[in-house]
Amino acid sequence: MRISILSTHIEISDVLPENSGDIEQLYRDAFPDEDLVPLVKKLLVSGDDVLSLTATKGGNLVGHAVFTTCGIAVENETSDHRVALLGPVAVLAALQKQGIGGRMIQEGLERLTVAGIAQVFVLGDPSYYSRFGFQEDGFIIPPYPLTEQWRPAWQSKSLQNDMQVQSGILTVPVAWKDASLWS
Ligand SMILES: CC(C)(COP(=O)(O)OP(=O)(O)OC[C@H]1O[C@@H](n2cnc3c(N)ncnc32)[C@H](O)[C@@H]1OP(=O)(O)O)[C@@H](O)C(=O)NCCC(=O)NCCS
Repeated sequence: MRISILSTHIEISDVLPENSGDIEQLYRDAFPDEDLVPLVKKLLVSGDDVLSLTATKGGNLVGHAVFTTCGIAVENETSDHRVALLGPVAVLAALQKQGIGGRMIQEGLERLTVAGIAQVFVLGDPSYYSRFGFQEDGFIIPPYPLTEQWRPAWQSKSLQNDMQVQSGILTVPVAWKDASLWS
């Protein structure tokens, strides 16, 4: 992927159909040891309620972040709370640590707040996601059991005052129904 070194302006926008080939290259670059391309492809074509944001620099794709709308089941009943799952997030290796990931995440959180999403969940490094206000979540259980080591990585952030569900299980669309994504 060619990157223009002359342009420093990063633009955050919705994913465009012409980005799809670049998205594959981006994920292979950002996650050299993990193949997240099948998940991302499924999320983008599934028709599920997905917020898919890109970061471009000089017209080149340099970052991508996905927020998937999910539900919460309380005692096997689906509650009417609309929540979201953040991930994956990827920034081209050569451009990491320049605030691009942070800008995509902030933009997504702002949009979901306006859309009335109650809470956002993420399974990721707490030292990164705590920057955005995510905190370990012991109330809502992820769809697949986490190993002891991964438990602190299960975090959430409330987007609306007074709309936090106190217990339940996160219900995810089919793209996320793969135990290997949660181990
Ligand atoms: C994680 C990722 C999306 C962050 O995007 P980014 O644009 O590099 O991050 P930002 O510039 O917004 O933030 C940079 C800060 O976060 C820290 N950071 C970046 N990735 C981190 C991680 N996985 N864990 C902890 N801290 C991390 C950096 O050290 C930096 O810290 P500093 O501000 O103290 O220097 C990006 O580094 C990436 O694509 N990594 C590989 C793929 C990945 O692990 N994705 C997340 C899991 S889905």
